[in-house]
Amino acid sequence: MSPGRVTDAALPDLDDKPRVVEEMFDRIAPRYDTLNRVLTFRMDVAWRRTASKMLGLRPDSRVLDLACGTGDLCRTLTAAGHAPVGLDFSAGMLRAAHTDAPLVRADAMQLPFAAATFDALTCGFALRNFAALAPVLAECSRVLRPGGRIALLDVAEPESPLVRSVHGAWFRHVVPFVGGLISDRAAYRYLPASTAYLPPLPELLALVGDAGIVDVSRRTLGFGAAQLITGTRV
Ligand SMILES: C[S@@+](CC[C@H](N)C(=O)[O-])C[C@H]1O[C@@H](n2cnc3c(N)ncnc32)[C@H](O)[C@@H]1O
Repeated sequence: MSPGRVTDAALPDLDDKPRVVEEMFDRIAPRYDTLNRVLTFRMDVAWRRTASKMLGLRPDSRVLDLACGTGDLCRTLTAAGHAPVGLDFSAGMLRAAHTDAPLVRADAMQLPFAAATFDALTCGFALRNFAALAPVLAECSRVLRPGGRIALLDVAEPESPLVRSVHGAWFRHVVPFVGGLISDRAAYRYLPASTAYLPPLPELLALVGDAGIVDVSRRTLGFGAAQLITGTRV
């Protein structure tokens, strides 16, 4: 765990994590979008657009939006002229979804699609919620066609010490407070704390490479508060 990371004793054990995460997202689904907009000053909308653009796809590409939640990335992909399919294991998030894309309830660890089904795959703010990254990334690679593109968007820790301290205070105090007012305080303590599940950057990029993704690149967004990892399936 890197210095300055938000930690929280409330993080579940790995064995319990899928159940705890699924129940939590079921619970917070109705207010999830509102809080995203408020807590990121709507920057999350621009981050999803950047993720879609960085895929560099032809129109009508088939894109799997993994852990689609309420379907924000699906909507962004549809608006960009693509044909997304959303997948999530939280029935509550899927019920609250506002997208015309087909939605599938399933676990990211075992995708119900044949090999090479998709031209691209996106995953927004979910990496740290999976119980293990390697099996999920292997599944992502399996369902992508050779040459298919991947865009993984998640939170990050700003590099600048000044921005990092403001960001840390925001995560530790403002997110749980506002989350508690509008939704569920425990969940909005978990969400920032769960960044501790993300491996250090070199390890994260190595995991992506080990899954058969090449030309991996990473850029930060929102003054370093978010990161976008892109690559191409061999
Ligand atoms: C922070 S939300 C992100 C939702 C959406 N991608 C977005 O950009 O707003 C994380 C999502 O990951 C989903 N999730 C977590 N673990 C999962 C798994 N193993 N399989 C499928 N979905 C999962 C949760 O249900 C939740 O909807």
